Amino acid sequence: MAKDNSLMDAIVSLCKRRGFVFQSSEIYGGLRGLWDYGPLGVELKRNIKEVWWRDMITTHDELAQPEGTPSTFQMVGIESSIIMHPRVWKTSGHYDLFADQMVDCRTCKSRFRADHVATSECPQKPSKCPGEHEACDLTEPRDFNLMFETYVGALRDEENKAFLRPETAQGMFVNFKNVMDSNRVKIPFGIAQQGKSFRNEITPRNFTFRTREFEQMEMEFFCHPDESPKWYTYWRDRRFKWYTDLGIDPAKLILRDHDADELSHYSVGTADVEYAFPFCDEGEFGELEGIAHRGDFDLRSHMEGKLVREGDKLVVEKGEDGKPKYPGSGKDMTILNEETKERYVPHVIEPAAGADRTVLAFICNAYNEETVTNDKGKEETRIVMKFHPRIAPYKVGVFPLLKNKPDLVAKAREVCTLLRPHMAVFYDEGGAIGRRYRRQDEAGTPFGVTIDFDTLGEQGDELKNTVTLRDRDTMEQTRMPIGELLAFLLEKIR
Ligand code: GLY
Repeated sequence: MAKDNSLMDAIVSLCKRRGFVFQSSEIYGGLRGLWDYGPLGVELKRNIKEVWWRDMITTHDELAQPEGTPSTFQMVGIESSIIMHPRVWKTSGHYDLFADQMVDCRTCKSRFRADHVATSECPQKPSKCPGEHEACDLTEPRDFNLMFETYVGALRDEENKAFLRPETAQGMFVNFKNVMDSNRVKIPFGIAQQGKSFRNEITPRNFTFRTREFEQMEMEFFCHPDESPKWYTYWRDRRFKWYTDLGIDPAKLILRDHDADELSHYSVGTADVEYAFPFCDEGEFGELEGIAHRGDFDLRSHMEGKLVREGDKLVVEKGEDGKPKYPGSGKDMTILNEETKERYVPHVIEPAAGADRTVLAFICNAYNEETVTNDKGKEETRIVMKFHPRIAPYKVGVFPLLKNKPDLVAKAREVCTLLRPHMAVFYDEGGAIGRRYRRQDEAGTPFGVTIDFDTLGEQGDELKNTVTLRDRDTMEQTRMPIGELLAFLLEKIR
C-alpha cells in the first residue's frame, strides 16, 4: 500500500469533525503526542477494549477451546497501579536500558529520534530533513530514557523519585504469586491487564500512532519452558486472527518475525502484527501488537535481580562491589512440577497490543469514500465508516420520518426505549432523512431504523408496527416488525 497523505488528512479531518479524536488541550495550542477521544471515539475505544477483554477473559472457557489448542488453560485479569516501586524498573531493565537514541540540532534546538532523522522535517526548512541544510548542526546520537519521572510524597529528592509505568506488563509479573495463591490457577495460565502507560517519545507522530500517553492491552501467559514454543505459535496465530475476525482487511495486515538485532533485551523471539496505515511508505507497516517469547527473564529478574546477557545466558548483573547491581525481591517464583518433582521458573509469552493504535487501525480500515446517486438523481460522495458491528460506537440510529408529527416521534422514542438497555442507540429527528442516514454513515452506525406512517398503520394494517431497517454498507432497506428488531440486532452485534 503506497503512502497516502491525502487519505490520512481526510481521516484526521473526519476524526475531528465527527468527534472521534481531538488534539489534547487544543484551545491552548495542543501538546505534542497527546490526544483526547471525543464522544464517538470513546465509544469505539471502549468497545474495542471490551471485545478484547471478553475474548481474552470473560468468555474464555477452559474446557471448550478449538481443536489445536495445546492444552486447557485459565485466564484471569488484574488492574495494577501506574506508579510502581522504583525497584521494579531497575530490575526489569527499563531504568538502564529503556532509551532511544536522540539527536539535537544546536542551531534550531530541535530534537529528533536518531532513527527518524531521515524521515523527519527540519522545522526551519520544512521540505528538508534535519542535517541537510547548511545551517543545521546536529549532535552525535545519545541515549534518552523514555520513562516519565515523578516524586512520591512531599520531598522531591532522589529517594522519592518514581516513574510512570512505560508498560503494564510489570504489574502482572510482580503479582504472579499473588494471583496464583489467591485464585488457585495452575500453569499454564494468563494474566491480562488494560491500562495507561507513558513514554516520553522524542518524536511523537502520525496522529495517535506514536503518542506519549497511551493505553495497552497486555497479557502475560505463564507456561512450562518445554511447552513455550507451542504456546508462542498459538498466541501469534490467535492474535493475528483477532484483527481479521473484527474486519481488518487481511491484505493490509502482516505477521512479521523480528530479526535477531531487533529483539528487546528480554526477548528470545517476537512477532509483530502490523497494519499498512495510510501514512506508511510503500511496503511499510506500523506495529499494532507484539507477541514476545520472553523466556524466564521477567520472573527471574524479580527473584534474583537485573539480568544481563552473557553469551547465550542471562546472568545477574553485578555492581562494582560484586553484589547484584539491582537486587530482585528474593521471593520464590518457581513452580513445582508435580510429576518430576523439579522446580522451574515459568516461561512467558506476551501478546502486547496498543489500544490506541488498534483504534486508529480500525478507523483507517473503516474509512470509505463511495460515489452514490442522491434522491435528486445527482452523484455525491458518501463517507462511510464500515466498522464491524461489535465495535461500532453506536449500533443503531432511530429516526422518526418527520419531527413535527408527535405520533411518529412518540413511536420512535418507544423503539429507543426498547433497544437502549441492550445497545448504544442514537436518536436523531433533525433534517431530511437522507441527511440523517449520511450522518450515521460517517459515525459508522451499522443499522438505521425509520418510523414512518406505515409504522403507525395509517396506510392500512398490513405494515402497522413495522419499521424500515437500513443497512449501512449496502444501503438496502427492508421492513421488519418492531417485535423482531431486538433479537435481529443483538444477533448482529454480538
Ligand atoms: N510489554 C511490552 C510492551 O510494552 O511493548
